[in-house]
This record gives sequence, C-alpha cells and structure tokens, in this order.
Amino acid sequence: MITVKSVEEFEKMAVAGSVVAAVHQAVREAAVPGVTLNRLDEISADIIRSAGCTPSFLGYMGYPKTICLSPNDVIVHGIPDDTVIRDGDVLSVDVGAIYEGWHGDAAFTMAIGDVPDEVSTLIDATEQAMWEGVAQARAGNRLGDVGSAVSAVAAPHGYGVVREYIGHGIGRQMHEKPEVPNYGEAGRGLKLKKGWAVCVEPMFNLGGAGTRVLDDGWSVVTADGSLSAHWEHTVAITKDGPMVLTLPEPKLIAVPA
Ligand code: MF3
Ligand code: CO
Repeated sequence: MITVKSVEEFEKMAVAGSVVAAVHQAVREAAVPGVTLNRLDEISADIIRSAGCTPSFLGYMGYPKTICLSPNDVIVHGIPDDTVIRDGDVLSVDVGAIYEGWHGDAAFTMAIGDVPDEVSTLIDATEQAMWEGVAQARAGNRLGDVGSAVSAVAAPHGYGVVREYIGHGIGRQMHEKPEVPNYGEAGRGLKLKKGWAVCVEPMFNLGGAGTRVLDDGWSVVTADGSLSAHWEHTVAITKDGPMVLTLPEPKLIAVPA
C-alpha cells in the first residue's frame, strides 16, 4: 500500500519532479524534424545524471532506455531508437527520475511542426483532462472523482479513453497502490488521504480505446492505428490541496470556486 509522506519527503519528490520538468523542457526544444529518438534519450540521461538523480525507467522490468518516447499511434512505453522525428508527428514524452530514493514521474505530448486541428485538439484535451483529474486529487475525495473528471473531458469529443494503463500512487516506488483509473463514478472508490502522492495520467485516442503491445514487448499502440496523446503529473495530496510536484517549482492547485 502507499505510504503517507511527510512534508520533507514531498520536498524530495519535488526535487525529482523539478528534474523531470527540466528534461521535459529540453526535449520539447530538441524535438525538431531530423532528430532521432535516441538523441532525445541521451539528452534526458545527461540532465537527470548531472542533477544528481537516477533515471527510474532504465532497468525497470528490464526497460532498456532512460525515457519513453511514443510517436503517433504509440500510446505509451515507446522505446527510443534511431527513428527520425518528422514534421507532423505527434510525440509523447514520459520521464521518471529518483532523488535520494524519491520518485517523480510525468509525461506530455507535443506536435512536431504543423498538425491538423483535430490533432492539436486531442493533445490539448488530454492535457485539460489531466488538470481536471489533478484538481480532484484532494484528501476526502474519492478515486472515482478523479477518474470521472478525466473521462468527462474525453466524452464530448468521442475519444477512446485507454483503460488498460492507468495512473498510480508514487513515492519510494514508481508504482504504489492505489491504481488511479481514468474512468469511474464521482463519489465512488477509495478515499484519498493527506500525505499520499499520485500520478494522474490520461491517455486518449482519436479512435477507439483498444490497445495492443508490439513485439518489442513494451510499445503500447492503439488497436485501430489512430493517434494517441498522454499527459501525466505527480501530485502530492496536501492539507491545502493538490500540489503538482513535476514542475520547475511545486504548484498548489486552488480549490475550484
Ligand atoms: N511513466 C510510466 C508510468 O507511469 C512508467 C514507464 S514504464 C517504464 O507507468 F518501464 F518505462 F519504466
Ligand atoms: Co506514471
């Protein structure tokens, strides 16, 4: 089960989180047409290690790289390789770092160059869904409040909401109980407690919700080949509300009016 963290422990997670945020920024800038996914992985490794952190994905269940890079119909867990980024690609970037034993884990999705409006809308709506879920990550709320807030953003667009891969508790381990689904019913499920930290991470597909794992054993793709977006933050549940730890500085989310 998830452990209750102290303020000092949240502060260590925020250091890991700030390094994750620095990697996000660097990858966002470096991800231009002509660059390989491997190059983005190297840049990420340099930043994590020079900050005195360890990459949490490398070696996790045998995962071979520092970050996950999931282009186009790859939903999550894409392995960086010599694939060259091209104009019009959609790229999801997932990064984890450990500082003094404490984890930070966050992802974003970006368009490379010009993409059709329906694609930028998918990316933006998935981000919006993450923020709606984050805002529900409060002591006393339930897991269903998070999941229903996330899926409510997808519903009017008709996006497939991925069900096989979900958010999670986080702390001394990258993955702790509880699981944090991107669906559910408001008011239902486990009650969230002060001192927990959770990752809220919606994955929305332009097509159906179905998934399939490629022969590399990692890359999760949409069953129908449609494009997919993925966003994630690590969030501390504090007495004052949700505090996002995977930003350059931790950020407290105000109570909705
Ligand atoms: N960020 C992913 C998650 O939240 C973890 C990546 S899986 C790994 O589940 F194997 F690459 F580490
Ligand atoms: Co995660």
